[in-house]
Amino acid sequence: MNITVQKEDLTSIPCDVLIVNRFQDQKELAGATKIIDDVLEGLLSNAVKEDGFAGTRGSTLMLRTQGQIGAKRVLLVGLGKEEDFCEEVVRSVSASALGALSSMKLKHVVSILHGAGNGGLSPRQSAKAIVEGVTLGTYTFSTYKKAKGNVPQQFTLVCKTARSAKAADQGRERGALFAEGTILARDLVNTPAQDMTPAHLVDVAKGIAKGKKNLKVKVLDKEKLQKMGAGGILGVSQGSDQDPYLIHLTYTPAKPSKKKIFLVGKAVTFDTGGLSLKPSKGMETMKCDMAGSAAVLGVFSVIADLAPDVEVHGVLGAVENAISAKAIRPGDIISVLNKKTVEVLNTDAEGRLTLADTLAYSAKQKPTVIIDMATLTGACVVALGEEITALMSNSDEWADNVLEASNAAGEKMWRMPLEQNYAKLMESKIADYRNISTSRYGGSITAGLFLQPFVGDTPWVHLDIAGPAFAERPLNTYTKHGGSGHAVRTLLTLIK
Ligand code: BES
Ligand code: ZN
Ligand code: ZN
Repeated sequence: MNITVQKEDLTSIPCDVLIVNRFQDQKELAGATKIIDDVLEGLLSNAVKEDGFAGTRGSTLMLRTQGQIGAKRVLLVGLGKEEDFCEEVVRSVSASALGALSSMKLKHVVSILHGAGNGGLSPRQSAKAIVEGVTLGTYTFSTYKKAKGNVPQQFTLVCKTARSAKAADQGRERGALFAEGTILARDLVNTPAQDMTPAHLVDVAKGIAKGKKNLKVKVLDKEKLQKMGAGGILGVSQGSDQDPYLIHLTYTPAKPSKKKIFLVGKAVTFDTGGLSLKPSKGMETMKCDMAGSAAVLGVFSVIADLAPDVEVHGVLGAVENAISAKAIRPGDIISVLNKKTVEVLNTDAEGRLTLADTLAYSAKQKPTVIIDMATLTGACVVALGEEITALMSNSDEWADNVLEASNAAGEKMWRMPLEQNYAKLMESKIADYRNISTSRYGGSITAGLFLQPFVGDTPWVHLDIAGPAFAERPLNTYTKHGGSGHAVRTLLTLIK
């Protein structure tokens, strides 16, 4: 689908479908929709009345025109209640509108900028949200099966003035980058573990940096990890035939910056649970256990084009958590990168062992902030459900920064406390820490508390994305089944 912005008269632009809108329970049609209704001599307003089209969010009503305007059809889409309107509604209804058209083979679909008139959004915000909604909403994972459903060849955002067209085009460009990064993350998560190995993640990282002067990739192999003492990554991977890697990506802005953001992603390419084996149902979706690293790679895939003015690092500890006679055993004690020892009582709590190394590695390089993304605990999904990420932080300021960005990006996050009283539940009698809590409660928080010592005093935000990283049912109209690319757009918003 080719997406462009055009300054054109709404009534004359030729197309298969023109998408217009109305708020729920709005008395009169308004703005661009009213202009079209007037030329069509009340076709829309009459249909709204006669068909009882209330305009609830994402509802649609298709009408054929009779040559009075350039468009062959008009699709009226409901924006929901005016008081609830925001960018996320625009993403959502834009995807709904294209969903309503998916049974038709269309060449050219045109949309007005939802909410840029009376909805309080700028043309730039509206265009960005529409592009994200239609691009992500029509995404399919087609590596192993040909995609069904139709996507229009051309999608045009129509603007009244040259000035609004210019602003909308900037929004279009930004939205396209945000969607591209998200889609890369979705593809990586959806790729089965037979192909998505730690070595493949290395290739993906190298592919992203190839030919880009401001991107660098450093790869530490098993031998280097042994020399460094990265016992977490090595311990988890020792039962697998796949070699582990630590992948370190760096983006350097054109103008040197003192600010350094470190993004750390859990990169377990498959989680069997290890000897503390998962039941088969729980293992079905465990190719998603590298979704944190997919988010980091999604960010890096568009960062050079986005050109933020801060230095950004991505650190991934790529491993497979498999079983064999060589696998780490419950009761084994490992020594991680900061020389602390961990009694591994459950080999299924493996993400935190790899993160102990990658967080300690990152903290050594004196970042401004570390943000980690990890499909870390089932307990998080029990607490917040499938749509919401748990955020934990040692810094109120950075917690708020990330929450604000997530709100703008339409990715739901909720802060949970790093309750220090629970830290004693992670103490071992014979090592510095144990890798699981002595209590069965509060598992998401105790996992966060396990990670905390490895960042030291560095401002840090931990995102447990176990719920939304992989959608077992659609999360919203533009996030269907499978890898969601969750956190990519929050991170891009924050970085920019
Ligand atoms: N990768 C899982 C967590 C997970 C569960 C992610 C469901 C996505 C969906 C993680 O490695 C794990 O198995 N955690 C254990 C920790 C427990 C042993 C303390 C869990 O949550 O059961
Ligand atoms: Zn696990
Ligand atoms: Zn895991």
